[in-house]
Amino acid sequence: MKDEVDPARSGIVSSRPHFPSDESFRLLVEAVDDYAIYMLDMSGKVVNWNAGAQRMKGYYADEIIGQHFRVFHTPEDIAAGQPDSLLAAAAADGRVASQGWRVRKDGSKFRANVVVSAIRTASGELCGFAKVTQDLTEQNRLAEFEQLRRLATHIQATREEEQIRIARELHDDLGQQLAALKMALADLETILRDNGAIAALTLTHTKDMHHLIDVTVASLRRIAAGLRPIVLETLGLVPALEWLIGDFTQRYHIDVNARIQTDDMNVSEAASEALFHIIQEALTNVARHAHADEVTVELARGGRTCVLRVEDNGQGMASATLPRETSFGLLGMRERVHRLNGSLSIDSTPGCGFRIAITFPLETLERVPPGRPGTSAPSVSPSY
Ligand SMILES: Nc1ncnc2c1ncn2[C@@H]1O[C@H](COP(=O)(O)OP(=O)(O)OP(=O)(O)O)[C@@H](O)[C@H]1O
Ligand SMILES: [Mg+2]
Repeated sequence: MKDEVDPARSGIVSSRPHFPSDESFRLLVEAVDDYAIYMLDMSGKVVNWNAGAQRMKGYYADEIIGQHFRVFHTPEDIAAGQPDSLLAAAAADGRVASQGWRVRKDGSKFRANVVVSAIRTASGELCGFAKVTQDLTEQNRLAEFEQLRRLATHIQATREEEQIRIARELHDDLGQQLAALKMALADLETILRDNGAIAALTLTHTKDMHHLIDVTVASLRRIAAGLRPIVLETLGLVPALEWLIGDFTQRYHIDVNARIQTDDMNVSEAASEALFHIIQEALTNVARHAHADEVTVELARGGRTCVLRVEDNGQGMASATLPRETSFGLLGMRERVHRLNGSLSIDSTPGCGFRIAITFPLETLERVPPGRPGTSAPSVSPSY
C-alpha cells in the first residue's frame, strides 16, 4: 500500500460529465481524508477516485478508473457474487452497508466498513453508485488492545482471588492445625516429664518436633505473606516495603537503595496495597530479567503528587523486544496506576538498566478509589 499521495496523480478524476462537478466533489471528499470515497457506474466500474482511496487501497486514479470494483474484493467474496449483490441491494434499497475483508493493490487484506449508495438523476433514474470505505485496521487494533487489557485485568483479579484464598487457608486451616499440634505436644511433654528415664529420652524427640513445627509455621507465614501482604495489613506500608525489600535482598543478593518517605502523605489502604504490589512486581522483574546488582527504590511526595521510582543497573530491555503473550506484570502495573489516575513511564535501553517512574496525584492516593470498600479490599498480585 502506498503511504505517499502523489498530488499529480490523485484527486478526483471523473470520466462522466453527468456526475457532480470535479471541483465540488473534490472539496467534499478531500475534507475526509480517512475514507476512500469514489463513484461507480451502473456496471460497477470505478468512475472517480479520491486521495483517501489512493492511500487506503494503493491504486492511483489512472490505474483504477475504468476497472470493476470487484478488484477490491477477496476471491471468495467474488465467487459468492458479493460485489454484484451489493450493487443490487443499493439499487433496491437506496443504500447498503456491509463490513468485510477488502484487498489492496499489493494483495494485502484489511477489514473495512463499506457503504454503497445509489445515485439517481432528478427524474429518479439510477445512474451509478457512491461508495465510502473506512479502513477498520486501527479501530480493530485498539479494540483488540482493549480486549487484551480487560483479559489481563480479569486474569489478575482471578489470580488475586485464588491467592487470597490459598493464603487464608494456609493461615486459618493449616496454621490452626499446627497450633493445635503444638498444644497436644506440650500436653504430652507434661505427662512424660513425670515418667522416668524412657520418658526423658522421648522428651528430647518432642523438643525436636516443637522445633520442626516452629520452622513449618515460619515457612507457612512466609509463603502466606508472599501470597497476600499480611504484613501490609498488620504493620502498614513502610514496614511492609521494608520486609519486601529485605526479603528480596536476602533471596537474590541484589543491593537495594531504598528511600521510602511517606510521613507527609496519608496513603489510603487501597493505594498502599497497589504501591506494595507495583514495587513487588518491579523487584521480581529485576530478579528475573535484569541481571542487575543494584536497585534503587524511591517513594516520596513531590508537591501535590507522589512519585515512585524503581531503577536497576541491569541489562535493560531491547526496545524491539515484544512482551510475551504471557507477560502480565507490566500490564497489571499499568492497570493499578491507571486505577489511581497515575501515569507510568518506562525507560530502558540495552545495557543501561530499566527505569520505572510513576506519578500519582496525591488526592487519589489519599482517598479510597470509587467502587472499592474502604479498607482491606484485596487487589493482590504477588509475583514470587
Ligand atoms: N528490570 C527489567 N530489566 C530488563 N527487562 C525487563 C525488566 N522488567 C521487565 N522487563 C522486560 O519486560 C517484559 C515484560 O515484563 P512483565 O513483568 O510484563 O512480564 P514477565 O515478567 O515476563 O511475566 P509476568 O507476567 O510473570 O510478570 C519482560 O519479559 C522483560 O523482557
Ligand atoms: Mg513480570
